[in-house]
Amino acid sequence: MPVITNIEDLKRIYQRRVPRMFYDYAESGSWTEQTFRENTSDFDDIYLRQRVAVDMSGRSTATKMIGQDVSMPVALAPVGLTGMQHADGEIKAARAAEAFGVPFTLSTMSINSIEEVAEATSKPFWFQLYTMRDTDYVSRLIQRAKDAKCSALVITLDLQILGQRHKDLKNGLSAPPKLTPSTIANLMTKWRWGIGMLGAKRRNFGNIVGHVDGISDSADLGAWTAESFDPTLDWNKVAKIKEDWGGPVILKGILDAEDAKMALQVGADAIIVSNHGGRQLDGAMSSIRALPSILDAVGDQVEVHLDSGIRSGQDVLKAVAMGAKGTYIGRSFVYGLGAMGQAGVTKALEIIHKEMDVSMALCGRRTIAELDRDILLVPENFEGRWQA
Ligand SMILES: Cc1cc2nc3c(=O)[nH]c(=O)nc-3n(C[C@H](O)[C@H](O)[C@H](O)COP(=O)(O)O)c2cc1C
Repeated sequence: MPVITNIEDLKRIYQRRVPRMFYDYAESGSWTEQTFRENTSDFDDIYLRQRVAVDMSGRSTATKMIGQDVSMPVALAPVGLTGMQHADGEIKAARAAEAFGVPFTLSTMSINSIEEVAEATSKPFWFQLYTMRDTDYVSRLIQRAKDAKCSALVITLDLQILGQRHKDLKNGLSAPPKLTPSTIANLMTKWRWGIGMLGAKRRNFGNIVGHVDGISDSADLGAWTAESFDPTLDWNKVAKIKEDWGGPVILKGILDAEDAKMALQVGADAIIVSNHGGRQLDGAMSSIRALPSILDAVGDQVEVHLDSGIRSGQDVLKAVAMGAKGTYIGRSFVYGLGAMGQAGVTKALEIIHKEMDVSMALCGRRTIAELDRDILLVPENFEGRWQA
């Protein structure tokens, strides 16, 4: 077993172990992938200020996200098809998150169902909702999340229509994979993944199959998902979902200060500055570059979280020092999961935690409450000057 010291190491093992179709599904952005690339590279434009001779004993990365205790300001982002990256992937990732003391967010498009994850865990997790045209189905889904005692509803707003990822079309992405000569040839080299999958609780979409009329297996599902996302979603509908849910609501996919103000008006408990990991509007700004203007607009009135592009504890530190109250990792935990299952997700969290803790100390700070923009060197034109 190689010595794993960073998220990139996990990614290399992940690429070797998981079928190409699912690696490509995770490791792609939409169209030219400009936003996908800049989500990570824009973090490099911000420098950390090294400070010395400051007592660094008694440090802690613990804080709260939407009032809930977290061991560090990092949650696992909702990731569709996680159970195709590793057998029972959602259960494994949820267990790793629970043990580490960070929130796990289950996607609507998960393989393991809400009920299966609830049964396999002992603390509440968060549920991410995609709004569908079928409002009865959405109501039932919300009720299932309530019954499972989910402690927050994350409503994703940036996917009413799907941004195109070229590789998914070329690979004929499906869950479970369709057996063509090229997928069979690739699967034969991924024996570890295949053996795991033979024993998996489930290999189709657990929140959908059996819960939507006419969907009995995933052959019908591709067409259903393309047609079923609700193109008419608007702020009134968001407010209505919030009312139906009745608990904490986090609005995901905000990239503009005007939308952040709308989120405030519908009473969001938190917003996630996100471009869906560069998978939706290609050519949109990176999340870290969009963060300051959104914080300036609403940061004193609602919790602002961030995802997209986080691959290290230094990235988390930069986002939190800028003013985010929490962050989410998508691909960083998927790499760990695909590489080594639950232990790999734990490893990803440990890596990010250690990087964050040590970097925080080297900036002369001991707690999350002590972090502020003073530890950052942000280029003057970081947000850009755009014509009105
Ligand atoms: C493979 C994959 C599947 C995703 N599926 C969902 C999903 O089902 N629901 C959702 O709200 N976001 C989804 N996202 C977006 C993530 O929640 C998150 O915004 C993104 O991964 C953050 O970027 P990062 O991967 O650079 O950390 C997905 C992302 C990836 C990489």
